[in-house]
Amino acid sequence: MRVIVCDNYEQVSAEAARIFAAQVYLKPDSVLGLATGSTPVGMYRILADMNKRGEISFKDCKSFNLDEYYPLAPDNDQSYRYFMNVNFFDHIDIDKANTRVPDGLAQDPEAACKAYDEAIDAAGGIDIQVLGIGQNGHIAFNEPDEKLICGTHLTSLTESTINANARFFEKKEDVPTRAVTMGMASILKAKTIILLANGKAKHRAIAELLDDTITTSNPSTLLKVHPNTIIICDREAYEG
Ligand code: F6R
Repeated sequence: MRVIVCDNYEQVSAEAARIFAAQVYLKPDSVLGLATGSTPVGMYRILADMNKRGEISFKDCKSFNLDEYYPLAPDNDQSYRYFMNVNFFDHIDIDKANTRVPDGLAQDPEAACKAYDEAIDAAGGIDIQVLGIGQNGHIAFNEPDEKLICGTHLTSLTESTINANARFFEKKEDVPTRAVTMGMASILKAKTIILLANGKAKHRAIAELLDDTITTSNPSTLLKVHPNTIIICDREAYEG
């Protein structure tokens, strides 16, 4: 695992954008694994600016997002589909038909999850996966537990995640309690992974990610077995 420690959030975003852009520059038809949340927003802004300046193009890329609240319609302004459109897709030249976010309204979630994993495999697998990290070490919505699930699946959010995400909603009761998420094996299959983190609140999770142990009580620690993961964090997340 390579670790890049940055002075601040702006630098985290710039470093992440540099690595992400290099991937797309070298392989214009890259399969992108994307995350929502506040952390990657700065990186998305920089990439959109590079796209506007003609430095990179996403027109031949395909993308798969990590997760989506369930049940929630894609046009709901709290949905992750909506978030991706507003924060990234609306500002770049990607063909929206080639962007996938798990279906927050699937009638048969199990079948939809299986189809999602099959679509990733059919696209050739994810070339670069962007991850944020929860204060409890979750990646995507793989929450700390005795057992973690391999493939895309429907899951319940923990109290800690609901509290952390309440800032995006009018009141805590509005935060959906379930989500469809890519599983641990789906994430670990990505060829390159970049995990972004900033702020003191992420320090405990990052400290465990950087020590010498693996535990399902901090799902991010499984990234230690991945051959090509880069952690990009600011000093507050790194040092506490
Ligand atoms: C979002 C996701 C989550 C977030 C994590 C951190 O697609 O999968 O795991 O990456 O909750 O969220 P922020 O960046 O808002 O601190």
